[in-house]
Amino acid sequence: MREELKFMGKIVIKTPEQIDGIRKSSKLAAQALDFAEQFVRPGVNTEFIDDKIDEFVRSHGAISATKGYNGYPKSSCISLNDVICHGIPSKTTVLKEGDILNIDVTTILDGYYGDTSRMFTVGEITEEADRLIETTLHCLDLGIEQVKPGNRFGNIGFVINRYAKAKGYSVVYEFCGHGVGVDFHEEPQVDHASRRNSGPEMRPGMIFTIEPMINQGKPKAVIDRNDGWTARTIDKRLSAQFEHTILVTQTGYEVLTDIHNDYPIT
Ligand code: MF3
Ligand code: CO
Ligand code: CO
Repeated sequence: MREELKFMGKIVIKTPEQIDGIRKSSKLAAQALDFAEQFVRPGVNTEFIDDKIDEFVRSHGAISATKGYNGYPKSSCISLNDVICHGIPSKTTVLKEGDILNIDVTTILDGYYGDTSRMFTVGEITEEADRLIETTLHCLDLGIEQVKPGNRFGNIGFVINRYAKAKGYSVVYEFCGHGVGVDFHEEPQVDHASRRNSGPEMRPGMIFTIEPMINQGKPKAVIDRNDGWTARTIDKRLSAQFEHTILVTQTGYEVLTDIHNDYPIT
């Protein structure tokens, strides 16, 4: 009955009960990233970090959404340097001084999904790498500031792309943010480079990710033909990414994966 009140197109408007569940799962995903930080050290392999994340998530009554997702084998994605996203944790990927990496965790807690990723650094990194990471984080912040009822999804990608370009970087267009919460990847697709005022309107109760991947060089991604997952830059230059799960409120947003109070609730 009155399904039209719950759905705008195919974008799910979450119920208060669903929002509560997604908030809890999102918090746990963010806590898993905090927990992972202690293992980001030279000489540590990324499978070890993935095992620790898996243990952490399970010990909190949840499971990882990635393990078994379309055949993906691990509990997190760990993407180093020129890897844009979907780096598969492995024993042979060993962290070394100067590396930059994204760790991406998606949890399922009581059936609800929370999805977040952030950058980590190993020892001293170059100034160029640092500038890329700071710019990417600011791209996410600018995207989040666009979240309010009535605004269009395209404005998220518009401000992200404008800023990244102004800083001399490119925006990956082959991977996007997405609706999330009752499923892993829901409608809508949230592009990180898009036309101003394009796309559907945001409504209170929508939950989606913003997860810009920003490249030093060309935007193109190349998928590893051996593992079918690892997405690398075509020119071997660096890529960075941050991701949050965001709820549209009556007047703005709540960043559900923000456990450090970096963002106000608006
Ligand atoms: N967590 C990723 C995202 O932000 C998706 C990873 S899917 C996987 O959407 F299969 F590669 F793990
Ligand atoms: Co995501
Ligand atoms: Co993710």
